[in-house]
Amino acid sequence: MPTRAWFPTLIYCEPLQPSGLARLNDELATECAQLRDYDDAGRKWSAAHYPGGYTSYASMNELQHFSSTFGALEKKLTRHVRAFARALELDLRGRTIRMTDCWVNIMPPTAAHSLHLHPLAFISGTYYVRTPPGCSGLKFEDPRLSKFMAAPPRLPAARPAYRSHVTYPAAAGNVVLFESWLRHEVAANRVSEERISISFNYAWS
Ligand code: NI
Repeated sequence: MPTRAWFPTLIYCEPLQPSGLARLNDELATECAQLRDYDDAGRKWSAAHYPGGYTSYASMNELQHFSSTFGALEKKLTRHVRAFARALELDLRGRTIRMTDCWVNIMPPTAAHSLHLHPLAFISGTYYVRTPPGCSGLKFEDPRLSKFMAAPPRLPAARPAYRSHVTYPAAAGNVVLFESWLRHEVAANRVSEERISISFNYAWS
């Protein structure tokens, strides 16, 4: 083949652990609800910036230090982040990685999270705690989209990897990881039950 692909964009998706997910997610869902009750500042911030939903992003965003449940989650997530960093062929020899932020997102019907990226991190991700059937997935945008300029559209049957967007369904128990510069969004949740996720950032030094 005279044509080869270069500059891949990788996205990682894997169950957090082989078993025991239902119990862990029950514990996490309980803590997330308790956090929302407790976090007055977060509820106020969410009312202004996360309409209809609750996020601890601006108020309690180091949950890995907040409880043993979140601390244990951090340890498990770090193993996945290391695996993803290996897949990316990042040179972490003699370097350390650490979770810098970890926060909760609770989306009732209509709540959405518009297109964004995660500055000051190298790998970011989300762990899904509660994903009622039909809830919104995580939609990623081709990072080159702003450079396409006058390119014609892709064929309707273009291979998935060649399309401008990909949506990973939200599935409780799954970890999704991506490089922090990759823009993503969550469309409005259209189901009546709450969708609960935990997002996080990793930095290296
Ligand atoms: Ni995000």
